[in-house]
Amino acid sequence: MSYQNILITKEGPIGIAQLNRPKVLNALNSETMIELVNAFEEFDKDQSVNVIILTGGQNVFAAGADLKEMAQATPVDLVLGRRFELWDRIRKISKPIIAAVSGYCLGGGNELAMNCDIIIASETATFGQPEVNVGIMPGAGGTQRLTRAVGKYRSMEMILTGKSISAEEALRIGLVNKIVPVESLMDEAKKIASEIASKPPISVRAAKEAIVRAQDTTLEVGLEFERRAFYLLFATEDGKEGMKAFLEKRKPVFKGK
Ligand code: CAA
Repeated sequence: MSYQNILITKEGPIGIAQLNRPKVLNALNSETMIELVNAFEEFDKDQSVNVIILTGGQNVFAAGADLKEMAQATPVDLVLGRRFELWDRIRKISKPIIAAVSGYCLGGGNELAMNCDIIIASETATFGQPEVNVGIMPGAGGTQRLTRAVGKYRSMEMILTGKSISAEEALRIGLVNKIVPVESLMDEAKKIASEIASKPPISVRAAKEAIVRAQDTTLEVGLEFERRAFYLLFATEDGKEGMKAFLEKRKPVFKGK
């Protein structure tokens, strides 16, 4: 598939998608979102890919939804455009997605990063939900995911004032996993991706799915889900191999089966 607004590469078991609209700070228009979701789904289907990295490059992650596209929209356009269905499709990607964030990560950009599973920030990253500044509010999950990530009070402050926070502040409040120098951003993301990619993929996917459930459901339902996923892994060759190798004091050889 050919893409106009994103760059796609593959490095061994890592699929990399880079937003590529630098002139508008990687603003997320419909085309970009469609391409991104298609690329994610391609990686999800590709058996040689175990982990996905999403980045905007070293200068900017994304300055939000494309305001040029949204400025004239009516509620009917938004309903008929079904733009948020694309975001639901990202939620269904079974492989882990690591966001490598540098520079502005605002509005829909921050919502996109929060749709990923691990967020690595460069020292220049700034995070915010500035939608109130332009008379709207977060619409791609910001009020829900930010609140789940950092709690009600931090979320209220960020969304109601529209002010951005630095990478250090984001780390302190638990919005990002770690901060690295800009020039090491992709290396760090790839390091974590490689580590995850070396694990049995079915375990990784099942664990991701259970963790995502933890945020979306009650403890009782979540525990039940976890238990069923846990039982299923005992039917995998990798599960048998991993435990056997441990007992035989040797390195496991995983097959992804
Ligand atoms: N949509 C469309 N274009 C955008 C954009 C956006 N979200 N953000 C930046 N751009 C464009 C600018 O219009 C400008 O284009 P021109 O050169 O053609 O004028 C170019 O990118 C560079 O931007 P600036 O000149 O503004 O750069 P700056 O360094 O002075 O400021 C900024 C950077 C603070 C990020 C500023 O661009 C800004 O405030 N952008 C908008 C941020 C925003 O409000 N995001 C939320 C969008 S709504 C949303 O995301 C809803 C949702 O929940 C889905």
